[in-house]
Amino acid sequence: MQPETSVSPSVKTQLDLSGRVAVITGGCGFLGVQFAEALAEMGAFPVLFDVGGDAMDKAVAQVSAQFGQCDAHALDITDKAALQAATDAVVAKHGHIDILVNAAGLTRYTCSAPPDRFFAAFENSDAEVWEAGLKVNLTGVALACQVIAPVMLRQGKGSIINIGSDVGVISPDHRIYEPDEYGYPGQEFNTPAFYAVTKAGVIHLTRYLATLWAKRGVRVNAFSPAGVYRNHDPAFVKKLAACIPMGRMAAINEYKGAIAFLASDASSFMTGHNLVMDGGRTCW
Ligand SMILES: NC(=O)c1ccc[n+]([C@@H]2O[C@H](COP(=O)([O-])OP(=O)(O)OC[C@H]3O[C@@H](n4cnc5c(N)ncnc54)[C@H](O)[C@@H]3O)[C@@H](O)[C@H]2O)c1
Repeated sequence: MQPETSVSPSVKTQLDLSGRVAVITGGCGFLGVQFAEALAEMGAFPVLFDVGGDAMDKAVAQVSAQFGQCDAHALDITDKAALQAATDAVVAKHGHIDILVNAAGLTRYTCSAPPDRFFAAFENSDAEVWEAGLKVNLTGVALACQVIAPVMLRQGKGSIINIGSDVGVISPDHRIYEPDEYGYPGQEFNTPAFYAVTKAGVIHLTRYLATLWAKRGVRVNAFSPAGVYRNHDPAFVKKLAACIPMGRMAAINEYKGAIAFLASDASSFMTGHNLVMDGGRTCW
């Protein structure tokens, strides 16, 4: 017997997030704010879970100024008790949590280790950076799912979006960071192994949780973007763009629609998927 579904036949209604509450971890970061804006624009109330400080004040002000609503909680996603306390506060205020976007990540911009340790070649890589990467990018994502999914399971409905990466699907092309025979000088940075490995882990955690909760109304999908242009060295951009069939990096606002789609009823029959938006990079 085919179960009844309650999804509207109207696509506009399917995409409407009015009345929904969305937690965005890493919601004060470069992309996290974009994700919060996307969900708020579609009607959701965004709640940012991030480490706090000026970036949090700025993000809340930016989203509130445009959409009239945004809250934030300062916490470390690797601290389960802190995640639980913030989740309880959101439930006490709103009564429900409908969307979770796991965007917090240990990146070159948030890691406390200096660049020479963050980008050390794998042979000399730093166990502390490796452990910190696993703790934030993988354990932190799992903890946020563990704490917030029970709210959604009680409701019988929810959408979780775990942010992966193109380099969680393919290996980074190490050649783009190295000097070449055509005079390219190489770069002082790279994609560290912990980053690619944790993103692959996030994509598989997504499949695990999706199948675990599929019949209980909680959908779990991954979203894997490719690099967004952020004032990178032009020589590097040229080298990276050559790996991408569309011949460029992403613009900062190009992932908003994908997040809104995955959060909404427009993706109601999608779970366990890894939505890759990469200008075609993973085809090569
Ligand atoms: N920017 C890109 O080009 C790109 C490409 C592919 C994937 N991604 C992924 O998208 C996500 C967002 O990336 P971004 O560019 O906005 O990065 P970002 O470094 O600008 O932001 C990351 C945010 O996570 C927060 N954070 C880090 N550790 C935390 C912790 N322990 N507890 C709470 N918050 C924590 C930071 O404070 C920051 O606000 C990350 O998961 C990243 O790996 C980014």
